[in-house]
Amino acid sequence: MAIGRTVGVVGAGQLARMMAQAAIPLDIRLVLLAADANDGAAQVVRDVIVGSPDDPIKVRELAQASDVITFDHELVDPEFLATLESEGYTVYPSATTMALAQNKRRQRAELSAIGLPVPAFADVDSVEDVIAFGDIHGWPVVLKASRGGYDGRGVWMLDDAGAATATVAEAHTAGLTLLVEERVPLDLELAVLTARRPNGDIAIWEPIETVQRNGMCNELVVPVQTESRIAAEAVSIARRIVEHIEPVGVMAIEFFVSGGRVLINELAPRPHNSGHWTIEGSQTSQFEQHLRAVLDLPLGDTARMAPVIATENLLGPANGTDPTDVLAHALLIHGAHVHFYGKGARPGRKLGHVTVLGDDRAETRQRASLAIQQLTGEFRS
Ligand SMILES: Nc1ncnc2c1ncn2[C@@H]1O[C@H](COP(=O)(O)OP(=O)(O)O)[C@@H](O)[C@H]1O
Ligand SMILES: [Mg+2]
Repeated sequence: MAIGRTVGVVGAGQLARMMAQAAIPLDIRLVLLAADANDGAAQVVRDVIVGSPDDPIKVRELAQASDVITFDHELVDPEFLATLESEGYTVYPSATTMALAQNKRRQRAELSAIGLPVPAFADVDSVEDVIAFGDIHGWPVVLKASRGGYDGRGVWMLDDAGAATATVAEAHTAGLTLLVEERVPLDLELAVLTARRPNGDIAIWEPIETVQRNGMCNELVVPVQTESRIAAEAVSIARRIVEHIEPVGVMAIEFFVSGGRVLINELAPRPHNSGHWTIEGSQTSQFEQHLRAVLDLPLGDTARMAPVIATENLLGPANGTDPTDVLAHALLIHGAHVHFYGKGARPGRKLGHVTVLGDDRAETRQRASLAIQQLTGEFRS
């Protein structure tokens, strides 16, 4: 039984903006809690509450205006979400799921406890913990902030005990909780997007190849180019995670593939960068699926719409120019679906993406890349 048609979204960035796009044909109404009235989604949605996701009064106001609340980001206090749940508000994903999403230490501990494959890891309370870990598992090691990292901020490769000493001191001064992991030699990174509705129905998309540059996901390609055994294993691990956590909504799971092994990296219980290809590339976009799931509506088909789908992120050019000024150039590229997030251009900032559907892997990737080059004026070999 559907629970209504008004979805409150905490945050008004690009994910909320693309949810708004998906909400229109289904006549689902969104209400946003935007930190700033000019945020990407606040530009295109009528009902906006302006306020901080840290402000309980504002989050409660959003919940009162909505049939269910969901999230554009993870910057909300899970304890306050639990309070809202105890008052009878519907929060999807739940306070418990949001708490897990915000805690990389807990993700590692919880998934390894049920026998799922994760990199070797340890909690870090002092630099000695990192040095002991490096001496056992080998250097370099990867130090991570348990909470609050994204796009590689909050991830440090440490070559030796000296680097560990400096970085741990700095991170502790900044008040971060840390964990350390083995540095996995990566053959490939994959993501599996999942969706679950409150009645327990699950939908899973095929794995996505996520190509990273400078710690940030830069490109997506579907289907993945790897042994079918690897792809099948990632999907089966993803299913076990969903059955264990029982999240409601879309959840992305990032994987490392290393020497024929599939290891879980991290979870994000919301539409995710790795799912942007689904807008044109899948029977059901991740944004529509998320809205269906949190409203307890039937989930949609996850089949691919073309032999190959490639999505490339648009980052603000180094020279500070604004890609929206040269939209016409990108639209000359055959089949380029351009998405702008309504954010001001700053060098390196994620401003949008381009998706291309095609028949041939190299040609499809190249068209996505060409469209991005038209927008940025930056040409890579
Ligand atoms: N243990 C690891 N071994 C090798 N590479 C890693 C490891 N952990 C992270 N990375 C690299 O850093 C990227 C960002 O790490 P991740 O934990 O996903 O942080 P974020 O929250 O910023 O996405 C990964 O996508 C991967 O390329
Ligand atoms: Mg990540």
